[in-house]
Amino acid sequence: MRKTLEQPKPRTTTHSVRSRVAIAKHPLHPMLVVYPVALLSLVFPADLLSLWFDTVFWSQTAFWMNAVGLAIGVVAGIAGTADMFLIRVVRRHVSAWNHFIVAVMVLAMAGLGVWLRAPDPAAAVWPWGLLQSGVLLLLVMIAGWLGGTLSFRHGIGVYGEGNPHEHEADDKPPAE
Ligand code: HEM
Repeated sequence: MRKTLEQPKPRTTTHSVRSRVAIAKHPLHPMLVVYPVALLSLVFPADLLSLWFDTVFWSQTAFWMNAVGLAIGVVAGIAGTADMFLIRVVRRHVSAWNHFIVAVMVLAMAGLGVWLRAPDPAAAVWPWGLLQSGVLLLLVMIAGWLGGTLSFRHGIGVYGEGNPHEHEADDKPPAE
């Protein structure tokens, strides 16, 4: 039986890097990205439904998901960019640059979608809208995967063990 009520601590500690853009230790970028990830990846299925049912409802839905996904994606991108450029150790990870480049491609592709669909959402679906949303889905998956690598593999945005006031550790090179 345990002798104290102290929380159990892991025997080894992993490298973790605190976010600089966070509210009460909750990083903003991961909180915001759920919206563009969900909205932008649903544009492709909405396009398919629009072609299948031949109704304006799905092409309008595709347009609005594309537009709102882009708007929140830009805000999320600003928070992510601030974390990347304020923390030196983040910029040393190849995955951070890969994530940054693919994320900018996501936002550019979403911008292209808004430009393509805004004049007439229904007419834009075939063939260019479908091609744009298909490429967008692929890019969102790659950006999300690389973002996950930063959070779950390199511990970026994670508040690990140690002195909570010791931010200098974030500027040291990663252990691996
Ligand atoms: C445009 C510039 C962007 C930069 C510089 C950037 C940077 C980062 C950084 C540094 C992290 C690690 C967590 C943190 O410190 O906040 C991260 C995580 C992540 N990013 Fe980005 N990001 C950008 C845009 C995007 C966009 C547009 C998406 C999605 C459409 C995205 C999806 C993700 C995901 C899914 C994670 C993992 C979060 C989690 O698992 O909780 N990022 N990003």
